[in-house]
Order: sequence, then C-alpha cells, then structure tokens
Amino acid sequence: MNVLRFADLIAQGRVAGRRVFIRADLNVPLDAGGHITEDTRIRASLPAIRMALDAGAAVMVTSHLGRPTEGTLRPEDSLAPVAARLGELLGREVPLRRDWVDGVQLAPGQVVLLENCRVNKGEKKNDPTLAKKMAALCDVFVHDAFGTAHRAEASTYGIAEHAPLACAGPLLAAEIDAITKALADPKRPLLAIVAGSKVSTKLTILQSLAAKVDGLIVGGGIANTFLLAAGLKIGKSLAETDLVGEAKAVMQAMAARGAEVPIPTDVVVAKAFAADAAATVKRADEVADDDMILDIGPETARALASRLEAAGTIVWNGPVGVFEFDAFAHGTETIARAIARSMAFSIAGGGDTLAAIAKYGIEREIGYISTGGGAFLEVLEGKTLPAFEVLARRCAG
Ligand code: 3PG
Repeated sequence: MNVLRFADLIAQGRVAGRRVFIRADLNVPLDAGGHITEDTRIRASLPAIRMALDAGAAVMVTSHLGRPTEGTLRPEDSLAPVAARLGELLGREVPLRRDWVDGVQLAPGQVVLLENCRVNKGEKKNDPTLAKKMAALCDVFVHDAFGTAHRAEASTYGIAEHAPLACAGPLLAAEIDAITKALADPKRPLLAIVAGSKVSTKLTILQSLAAKVDGLIVGGGIANTFLLAAGLKIGKSLAETDLVGEAKAVMQAMAARGAEVPIPTDVVVAKAFAADAAATVKRADEVADDDMILDIGPETARALASRLEAAGTIVWNGPVGVFEFDAFAHGTETIARAIARSMAFSIAGGGDTLAAIAKYGIEREIGYISTGGGAFLEVLEGKTLPAFEVLARRCAG
C-alpha cells in the first residue's frame, strides 16, 4: 500500500520546526482507581513521538480513551494517567491540554498531550468542521493509531483529508507492512488459525480467508460448529447449530481451491466447564452426549504443529482451546510453540491470542504482534481500513 511515511518526511527535512499532530491509540485499560493495568499501547506509541521531537517539531499527541459521551469530560475519561505514564517513559513532563480544538500554543521541541479527542462534539461522526479545525492546528498529521484504523472519525479520518500533509506513523507503517507481507503477498503455504467461541462473530473472517489461505485451522467453539458440519457429534459443547450451513460452505469453498479446513481427529472433553474438571482424550467420533469439548486432542495438535512448522506464512487469531485452564491448554500451547519454531512469517492479533503468546513467552518468535483489536479483525475480513484508504488517497493526490 502506497502511503506517505513519517520517516520519509523526516528524511526529506520536512518536519523540523513544524507543528506535528500525532493521532495515537493510547486507549489503555484502567482499574477502578484509574491506574493503568497494561501499557503496551503507550510504549508502542513512543517511536513516533521521539522521532518528531528528535526532528525538532512542535508535537501534539492525542487519543481517545474509552467511549465517552461527546461534550462532557468526566474524570474517568481523562488522559491524565496516560500523560503521567508517557512522561515517565519519555523522561520529561508531558502537559495535558484541555479545550484544545481552537488552538494549541507550543514551540518546537515541546510535546503536549491533547485531552481525550472523543469528548469533542462531532468526533465520532467525523464532523467536517471539527476535522478542519484539528487540521488547522498542524502542518503534518501523523496517523499512528492502528487500533483505531477501522474508525472514520474526525481525529483519524477527517483530519487526514484536510491537514497540509498526512502520513503514516512508524507503528501504523509497521502494521501495514506486516499485513501486506501476510495477506497481500504471502509466502506459501499460507495457514490461518481462526479460533474463538462463536462462528457468528468471525464468519466474515472465515469466508474471506477461505478465498486466500492454503489451510484454515479452526478452534474453540468455532471448531465445534465445523465438527457438526463434518457430520460428527459434539455432545453438549458450545456451538451454533444455525451456522452449520455456513461452516459447510466454507469447507466446500476451500476444497474447491484444493485447500482444506483440517477437522480434529481427537479432542479433549470434560463433563463440566471448570478448571478442575477431569480431562479425557477421545476420538472425535466418540464424543458422548454429556461431553463438552474444551481442547483439540494431542494427535490433532501434533498434526497441526507439523503443518505450521512447514508453513511459509501464518496468521493467528484465537486460542484453539480453553487455555486459561491448564488441563485444556495443551492444544493452544502445542500450536503456539509450533508457530514459534516455524520459519514462517507469523502475524498474530486479538486479546486472547496476545494472552496466549504472553503465557508461553514466545513474543520474540512471532513475526509481528498487532496492536489492533477490532482493526486487526477487520483486516482479516478483507476490508480496507479507513486509515489506509485516506492515507493512500492523500499520497496519490
Ligand atoms: C480498541 O481498543 O480496540 C481501540 O482503541 C478502538 O476502540 P473503539 O472500539 O472504542 O473504537
């Protein structure tokens, strides 16, 4: 995808002394006391800010936090904890500015955080008046908020249309590059793992990937619906019987391309959904009426692991079993370690997937870990994200 990159603007000397507006995604989880519980997104936003400061720009950074009501800033909507953490990480004070839409005073070499952009009236609907006011604050707009790249809001989309220059920050650029490598121009075979509780939430992803990938590994409740589609019994396991037809269609679409949805040959079952429930390995065609499938079995896990080790590219979204319970985590662990061992380029995203990666300590073995939640899922659905579209259009114009 051809977009202007912030690094290129800096290399061309077009940033020094300029007003740079960085839209980051600093939407981090906070506990009841307003303390940040996980700061990955803040750390992931540092390179753009440091690049802008090092280049001698006057730097404004903003983000949304949560989903506040426009027009009111409640204490819990404030970016104050983020400003404090950003200050610690940058080793300098980061002042937080309220009511910033009509003007921000700052000099080159300074950085300020602009209060939660989602409290501005017109933000969500991408109001053109608001977008133009924000664009007027800067010489260069840097979109670095991949987590929000699927939203066309005033601070993510309208501002990119009206700012004198609009470019992708280093985080957004890295996401674009990883997505292109995995999906637009993948080394084959391309394997995707799509797992989670429901087919319904990932049906469009399954349909979109069925047209691209060489193997589509399903897991969790999704796999149960596919087991039904393959004519197997699943006892009282979680599944969506009304989507068996769609699951069959995905399997047929894959078969028509000479590709495959590998159906588990063995499973791990329990009589109850509990961490201490007794785990029993069974053949996939021997599941009893009162069994609940909570993981793939060891034979299936081994077979999938050898396919993953021989893959050229792997896209991973979702654990294949209830990996939070140790007795039902072996499938996910086997898959995770196979991805880590594989020479394939791998891209992973989604909250549960990141938790599994952290649990098995394989962060460094994954080719790229996406910071996007909903944005990553929309990429897998085959959608062009508004952020990519507007930046590509600005680059072409
Ligand atoms: C996220 O947490 O996935 C992003 O920050 C986007 O947040 P949103 O779904 O509220 O737009």
